[in-house]
Amino acid sequence: MVAVELAEVQGFILRGYTMPVARYFGLAVREPKGAGALLGALVDSDPAVPSMTTAEPWAAKPEICVNLGITFTGLAALGVSRASLNSFPVEYRAGAVQRAVSVGDVGTSAPDQWLPWLVDPGLHLLLMLSAQSSDALDAATKRLEQAWSASCVELGRHDGAALPDDTAHFGYRDGLSQPTIDGVPLAGLPDHLPRAPVGEFLLGYPSQFDQFSYPVPEPPELGVNGSFAAFRVLEQDVDAFAEFVTQHASATGLSKELIEAKLCGRWRNGTPLVLSSDTDTPEPPIPPEALNDFDYTGEGGDEWGHRCPIGSHIRRMNPRGQRVAGDGGHLHRIIRRGIPYGPAHDPSRPRDGEARGLLGLFIGVSLRDQFEFLMTQWANDGIFTAGLGRTNDPLIGAQGNGAGSFSIPRPEGSLILHGLTRFVTTRGGAYCFLPSISAVRYLAALA
Ligand code: HEM
Repeated sequence: MVAVELAEVQGFILRGYTMPVARYFGLAVREPKGAGALLGALVDSDPAVPSMTTAEPWAAKPEICVNLGITFTGLAALGVSRASLNSFPVEYRAGAVQRAVSVGDVGTSAPDQWLPWLVDPGLHLLLMLSAQSSDALDAATKRLEQAWSASCVELGRHDGAALPDDTAHFGYRDGLSQPTIDGVPLAGLPDHLPRAPVGEFLLGYPSQFDQFSYPVPEPPELGVNGSFAAFRVLEQDVDAFAEFVTQHASATGLSKELIEAKLCGRWRNGTPLVLSSDTDTPEPPIPPEALNDFDYTGEGGDEWGHRCPIGSHIRRMNPRGQRVAGDGGHLHRIIRRGIPYGPAHDPSRPRDGEARGLLGLFIGVSLRDQFEFLMTQWANDGIFTAGLGRTNDPLIGAQGNGAGSFSIPRPEGSLILHGLTRFVTTRGGAYCFLPSISAVRYLAALA
């Protein structure tokens, strides 16, 4: 087991903050020396500037947390040398706009439909602020604005606000499953799955692949203990989702709740279908800490998907021990952080014209082998495992308008739900490097 210096690592990589509000700022560096001073102030306890939050344990939960992502053009704007820039992975250098087609960001999700600040090649810094209250959020916003005003311009910002009971906009409880990482404090629910090595999420350690560590960008003080995140603004069409569920409930005689559970792999309250396929309130109840302790194979497994469909969102995104192409069921884990945005959907006011969705951060040491792999191989294709054909993830897949289908396997034969449409549209994305605390100091000293 390797030791990780938690004070070196940005906090949200290794633990969720579960704060009710958040604000993400997109900044362009206009004056590199001043931007260097801003970065220095974020890590060196300048009383005027909120400090960056590390992964060190908290004595008490802070009022706010601050973190930083840097795009490839951002590293260049901060004065990183050409040789160092060239040592970063190719997909990060290309950026989210260039990589859009490969992850299914086409048609209504294509970059020409994105929020303008997320297609601006001048987007350099993504400052991420989470807070315990709106007042704390606004107060920290003022301090940050003051701190960057001399050196950066704001290209855009996006607010997020948690929904009741940790739900996401389609109504499911979210944030239950996260990888258990060897050697760092447990941040999610316990499970019996293989532990992920640190090097799957932080640069500079052995990875999940035998005898392989991901190359650390040069120099080591910039690369080590860093990671990467795909930031995504994902708009959710709750009306289209609800209509699909209602229509198939009346056509099949299944309850709406069961169809929703089959699409996700969990009931709305988070109960996994594998552990309880007929009801979301089994007797005896499943203790909260056991809600992520299951597999699709082995004793009590569900090889054919009769309980949890093989094509459901959670089974695609983490097939666990299930047989998949390349034997990679455990090799493409991802850390998810995020917060909903927009008002809660009110079924009595359909098509209210409000934008709502998820501000998501999908974190891993390799954007290509984790975020992009999940999107291309598991969300937007089905040939990685038996029984799916060329189908897409029912919640996040890039299926064309009404052209998709979803299979509910049953012992008496599969039930196919036709007319699956795209419920989640990408409204923007950014590929960010998440520097360590030492790396922020290194960057601060460059200018
Ligand atoms: C608006 C978009 C999305 C919604 C509404 C959504 C919803 C959910 C829900 C309700 C769960 C179950 C709760 C849990 O297991 O923690 C879940 C799990 C998960 N989602 Fe998503 N998701 C979205 C986007 C994505 C994307 C873009 C990815 C991948 C790039 C992703 C990857 C995962 C993973 C890895 C899990 C955990 C699966 C497991 O370990 O069993 N999700 N999601």
